[in-house]
Amino acid sequence: MRTIGVVMNGVTGRMGYRQHLVRSVLAINEQGGVTLSDGGRVKIKPVLVGRNADKLADIAAKHGISDFTTELDSALADDDNLIYFDAQVTSARVKAVLKAIEAGKHIYAEKPTAESTQEAMALAEAAAAKGVKNGVVQDKLFLPGLLKLKRLIDGGFFGRILSVRGEFGYWVFEGDWQEAQRPSWNYRAEDGGGIVLDMFPHWHYVMENLFGRVQSVYARAVTHVPSRVDEQGNTYQATADDAAYGIFELEGGIVAQINSSWTVRVNRDELVEFQVDGTHGSAVAGLRNCRVQHRSATPKPVWNPDLPATARFRDGWQEVPDNAEFDNGFKVQWEAFIKHVLEDAPFPNDFASGARGVQLAELGLRSSAEGRRIEVPQL
Ligand SMILES: NC(=O)c1ccc[n+]([C@@H]2O[C@H](COP(=O)([O-])OP(=O)(O)OC[C@H]3O[C@@H](n4cnc5c(N)ncnc54)[C@H](O)[C@@H]3O)[C@@H](O)[C@H]2O)c1
Repeated sequence: MRTIGVVMNGVTGRMGYRQHLVRSVLAINEQGGVTLSDGGRVKIKPVLVGRNADKLADIAAKHGISDFTTELDSALADDDNLIYFDAQVTSARVKAVLKAIEAGKHIYAEKPTAESTQEAMALAEAAAAKGVKNGVVQDKLFLPGLLKLKRLIDGGFFGRILSVRGEFGYWVFEGDWQEAQRPSWNYRAEDGGGIVLDMFPHWHYVMENLFGRVQSVYARAVTHVPSRVDEQGNTYQATADDAAYGIFELEGGIVAQINSSWTVRVNRDELVEFQVDGTHGSAVAGLRNCRVQHRSATPKPVWNPDLPATARFRDGWQEVPDNAEFDNGFKVQWEAFIKHVLEDAPFPNDFASGARGVQLAELGLRSSAEGRRIEVPQL
């Protein structure tokens, strides 16, 4: 059994605490560590870093963690700490990650890796120049629903894939009469907020990994709710987009149309759903479930508004079975990154792919501002 130190910055935040510290790192230790290919096991010693010592002390005490500090430099100076992980607000990421690269740490980071393509590429280049391993969180790839969708694609279920329509979102409360369920920085452009910067990096790796390279984007990003109330009860101007309506052209002629919104009320089975239509069959995949309709079971609806609808279209779909056990996607990716660092196991979700996600967000915002479709240059 070996133990490696991992500097974790931003663990007081929603993602850093719940998904990365509790559901991934601590869960890995509880299961006895990460198992390497030679059967050896590796446990993770989290070193918590943040701005507020009291909050860090509370988390450390609650989970029996011995190391925490408000000094990033001192955590990076310790040779036992092999990896630096960043789940800070997006706007704080680049500076800290560059420091960690300079200190020779392998880097794992939340998405988006930066706020601009130039900075995201600079991170990828700095990591390559220093020879450190690098990875970006791409958790949606490990959702049971999307794993089933991938299984269908790999099995040739769809024939030729024609189109993808994605619907993501839910109502985020304004913060006045009911508390907002997301941090207020998400609604301020100057603080790294906005749904395009938040969600297009996700959609990018989903499209690239499941369907093919993204060749162009047309997007309309809007701020539907112009003012909100923050954590302190103060009203602020929402300067960032809270909804984005995007059309993406992918290699192979596939058209993907994805709506992302924090200003929509859910009338779906799951908070995100992708419908994929192919010549031989269609599927609707959500976070957990995936249902299909094969060409042989496709009804022939006839348009007649004079008659009430009698067909129950949803009944003609079939649930795809699990046929596997699905672990928490964040945890699965942590294990993969540790194996990548320690035994060079493959890890395709690197800073270069993270930069392509940031590029799509940047071009999406430009498309919206200029009101035109934009080709995506290959990075
Ligand atoms: N993979 C996913 O599905 C997913 C989901 C949500 C958010 N994220 C990403 O994770 C990161 C964190 O998001 P979150 O929702 O956990 O945010 P959060 O506001 O809950 O947490 C932010 C963390 O950053 C720290 N921080 C450092 N500098 C800060 C500053 N100047 N202002 C405010 N906080 C600062 C905070 O103390 C806190 O620990 C973001 O980059 C976001 O894009 C990823």
